[in-house]
Amino acid sequence: MASGRKKLVFGNWKMNFSFKQAQAFAQKLSSKDLLDGVEVAVGPHSLALGAVSETLAESEISVIAQNAYYKDDGAFTGEISMPMLRGIAKYVVIGHSERRHIFHESNDLIRAKMAAALRSGIKPILCVGETLLEREHLHTSQILSDQLSVGLADLTSEEVGKIIIAYEPVWAIGTGKYAKPDEAEKMIAKIRSEISSLYGYDAANKVRILYGGSVNAHNSGAYLKLDGIDGLFVGGASLSIATFWPMIELATKAFDEESKKGKK
Ligand code: PGA
Repeated sequence: MASGRKKLVFGNWKMNFSFKQAQAFAQKLSSKDLLDGVEVAVGPHSLALGAVSETLAESEISVIAQNAYYKDDGAFTGEISMPMLRGIAKYVVIGHSERRHIFHESNDLIRAKMAAALRSGIKPILCVGETLLEREHLHTSQILSDQLSVGLADLTSEEVGKIIIAYEPVWAIGTGKYAKPDEAEKMIAKIRSEISSLYGYDAANKVRILYGGSVNAHNSGAYLKLDGIDGLFVGGASLSIATFWPMIELATKAFDEESKKGKK
């Protein structure tokens, strides 16, 4: 993987913050100076997407939609579509474990959403990861392989090269437990090799892979140094500047160190 690639630090706010709190947080973020080498994005709930996007319009911080449906319009009460996100969100999260497990989203639905996002010019962040039970039964590789092969089935190699994948072990999300860095590194390598065998080396090299699951200011430094990692997908610790900003600083440092190594 080429050095000099920006590190991504993406925050998923989930179902938190009132409309006003989301706007105020975006305001605080936009007043901070971002350094080169890091891309920051935040994911407010749907009602605050427009306001957060306006607040961040002059900053370099991007907006993430937490979910959207695969149909472009029609009688789908309660849903928002990918075309509706145009001009508001740069990214959309697809297949988050909470959507898979609480809202029973299948790999097939996720596949349709991935294609819909790309059709509408919204970059998908595909979340993959195994549950504790799957891990204990040594099914992790099979689960990742199914989530990737079905979730990406409608995409071309070129499209796969443009997406982001977040490896988030389900047992680590919101639990305070997290994958050991060497374990996360292995899974990231596995994801890249799976993509390489399905879509070729170029797509596997280009695809961005993040780690998520109880990431915080204390453990993120170790993840950011891993081979093949492009950044962090952060839930709980993205809800305050005090916990989110240190990770952005660490990512800047990781980018600088990689760039120095690359120049040697
Ligand atoms: P967490 O959430 O950082 O609170 O574990 C991560 C996620 O769900 O994306």
